[in-house]
Amino acid sequence: MTRILITSALPYINGIKHLGNLAGSMLPADIYARFERMRGSEVLYICATDEHGTPAELAAEAAGQSIQDYCNEQYELQRAAGEGFSLSYDWFGRSSSQQNLEFTQHFAERLEAEGLIEERTSKQVYSIDDKRFLPDRYVEGTCPHCKEEKARGDQCDACGRLLDPVDLIKPYSAISGSYNVELRDTTHLFLKQAKMQDTIKGWVKNSDQWPPLAKSIALKWLDEGLQDRAITRDLSWGIPVLKDGKVRPGFENKVFYVWFDAPIEYIGATKEWADATGNSWQSWWRKDQGASDVSYVQFMGKDNVAFHTVSFPITLIGSGEPWKTVDRLKAFNWVTWYGGKFSTSEKRGIFMDQALEIAPSDYWRWHLMANAPESSDAAFTLEQFQATVNSDLANVLGNFVNRITKFAAAKFGEQIPTGGKPGDLETKLHLELDSRLKALTEYHSNMEYRKAAAETRAIWAMGNEYLAECAPWTVIKTDQEQAAMIVRTALNLLVIMGIIAKPFIPDTADKILSAMNVPDNNRNWPNESSRTLLDALPASLPFSAPEMLFKKIEDEQVEEWSKIFKAE
Ligand code: 2FM
Ligand code: ZN
Repeated sequence: MTRILITSALPYINGIKHLGNLAGSMLPADIYARFERMRGSEVLYICATDEHGTPAELAAEAAGQSIQDYCNEQYELQRAAGEGFSLSYDWFGRSSSQQNLEFTQHFAERLEAEGLIEERTSKQVYSIDDKRFLPDRYVEGTCPHCKEEKARGDQCDACGRLLDPVDLIKPYSAISGSYNVELRDTTHLFLKQAKMQDTIKGWVKNSDQWPPLAKSIALKWLDEGLQDRAITRDLSWGIPVLKDGKVRPGFENKVFYVWFDAPIEYIGATKEWADATGNSWQSWWRKDQGASDVSYVQFMGKDNVAFHTVSFPITLIGSGEPWKTVDRLKAFNWVTWYGGKFSTSEKRGIFMDQALEIAPSDYWRWHLMANAPESSDAAFTLEQFQATVNSDLANVLGNFVNRITKFAAAKFGEQIPTGGKPGDLETKLHLELDSRLKALTEYHSNMEYRKAAAETRAIWAMGNEYLAECAPWTVIKTDQEQAAMIVRTALNLLVIMGIIAKPFIPDTADKILSAMNVPDNNRNWPNESSRTLLDALPASLPFSAPEMLFKKIEDEQVEEWSKIFKAE
């Protein structure tokens, strides 16, 4: 059996994520996990909250809570939002777990033993008024590249560049707003990334299964030349830095950098899962203990690619131990809010909890993936959301389900009708279906979500086309048996439509399949000729017409939401 490890980039703990975050990592990972499970792979889908670093500290301070309380509360909210969107994690962990602490300290120890870590003293921004160093997001200022005036110390949102706080022009404290800052010496652990340049370049070049976006970003970084990077920070919230089992002298007020421990939490969360369920984490992560046959797939937004193609692999490979590294990395561009930025800090856009208050999760899942930001950024607008939901879900899928089940029930009762023989139209139907199912399977395997959604929609549309061509409402007037065969074929087609809908819209798919009395163990991905599938429902099997599956989104709703969410 194929074993597939799936991770989606860990959402920062600093508040419920917006639809852009969802579309660029967790949702496609869930669709891939569902697809692979349906076709019989053994899947382990892991995610967690990313709880350390300045994003957590700043958000807790703004909320007036202790960091621990803030993280506990936000973890529960994010877990619930994930559940609301039917994200089928096998485990949703926390990077503040004991398991992650132990792995992080282990990796630092191994890297040091391999000569890849050393203490270095360098200048960092120090706030005289706040009496503290200002790492990463604690300092803001003008971006040296694009001159954006509110760039954060670790990254400029305007131009996307990763920054070093000391490079900011006119830096000021994000805590007090004070410009009374200076550069002071501080000592940190540095990861000697430059030493790993050739190893990582060779590894990236050999990674032949990465889609183009991820590979081009990784190669660009490597071409610029890898820089050694500090992997500790002057902060109190995070994973302590040890030496020989005790706090490392001089590091009493320092912890590991969030980007050092966050990806390690993929392993940490796997161990959280293993500890809770009695499974083995090693068989997923250690190539000497069974993980060499695992296919490891990562999902993330494009700003995370460098960390996953360069820094994290350096941690894993540099440790000198046989850790599993990523085999396929699917990266996404941005979903924009009307062409501008979704922003957690400025609360611009729709957030996961708000989305569920105004429409069911399947509506969002479908729209976001049918318009996934794969080859370029994709603008989210409420008008387009309304159009996709009304046309694809309500008019195409919903309409077919409604028409066929109502007609069948009215003319033949709520059971699969018998009699009649398939003819030319059914042959045409199954040939087209075979080729479409083959294409759809390939798109899902290749993680091409726009194409997979378009193919899914095309299969749904086949139902309405088939009914229009066969016109069972006319046939039944002269040939009851022929009409029974058409209805039976269409109901079988409905089951196939429900099954292929499952990765995208699992709640609706289950409603369809339950109405058709398809047992759970018969909801696998179709891998046989559709000639068999179109005659699979046992004669006389009872079914029920499902309740209305989709409610169209009205113009007034769009208007109202536009006001609430400041759509512009
Ligand atoms: O960019 C982000 O939202 C980070 N929290 C992603 C971390 S991914 C992984 F490395 F943990
Ligand atoms: Zn910039």
